[in-house]
Amino acid sequence: MLTQDQMKLAAATKALEFIPDDAVIGVGTGSTVNLFIEQLATIKHRVQGAVSSSEATTARLKALGIPVLDLAVVDDLPVYVDGADEVNHYLHMIKGGGGALTREKIVAAVAKEFICIADETKYVTVLGEFPLPVEVVPMARSYVARQMERLSKPGIRVHPELRMASGDKVFQTDNGNYILDVHGLNIAEPVSLETYINQIAGVVTNGLFAQRRADVLILGTQHGVEVKR
Ligand code: 5RP
Repeated sequence: MLTQDQMKLAAATKALEFIPDDAVIGVGTGSTVNLFIEQLATIKHRVQGAVSSSEATTARLKALGIPVLDLAVVDDLPVYVDGADEVNHYLHMIKGGGGALTREKIVAAVAKEFICIADETKYVTVLGEFPLPVEVVPMARSYVARQMERLSKPGIRVHPELRMASGDKVFQTDNGNYILDVHGLNIAEPVSLETYINQIAGVVTNGLFAQRRADVLILGTQHGVEVKR
């Protein structure tokens, strides 16, 4: 029986096969990506460098001697490798458990190919068991929370929760914003819900990655690594 970390490592290692030579690589955020960064370091002579989706990832890349480039000066990003909190069979995802969703969405938008690395516990039929992270400008947090509550249906209560850091401090993203983790969503139509939430005033972005879904899913399972497109 493989542990979740062993399945993550298997997916992260397989992702090396998708890294082109002499390219700049987009790198996401999270524990699965941290394993990928360690693998990437073993072939760092083959890549020009990386564009990072968070301060945490930047620190890890630099610590392993992988040059970090500003996305604004990169014209071509053939591949972006990132994890997911949930991914469905259409390769739509919920992301943002680590709070890096906005920069992740920007890097993903630029990349030609989004490669999602995950273990089998993340693979679901319907998104929404994992609370949906929504990054908000701090002054809009109560307004956005009320708008999200309006998505409740008879018998299904949608419940946004302000993400806290340690103690009684509110969690702040790398962009200085807050996160609402929205519980109780049963996401039958991820593409339209992503659009709907993003047009609420004060929302920076939400953790649905459906309009820009993954192109490839590398899934670590009990029976080996599966590649899905
Ligand atoms: C961070 C993310 C991560 O990709 C997501 O939370 C998955 O993380 P992990 O690999 O630790 O399970 O979206 O904002």
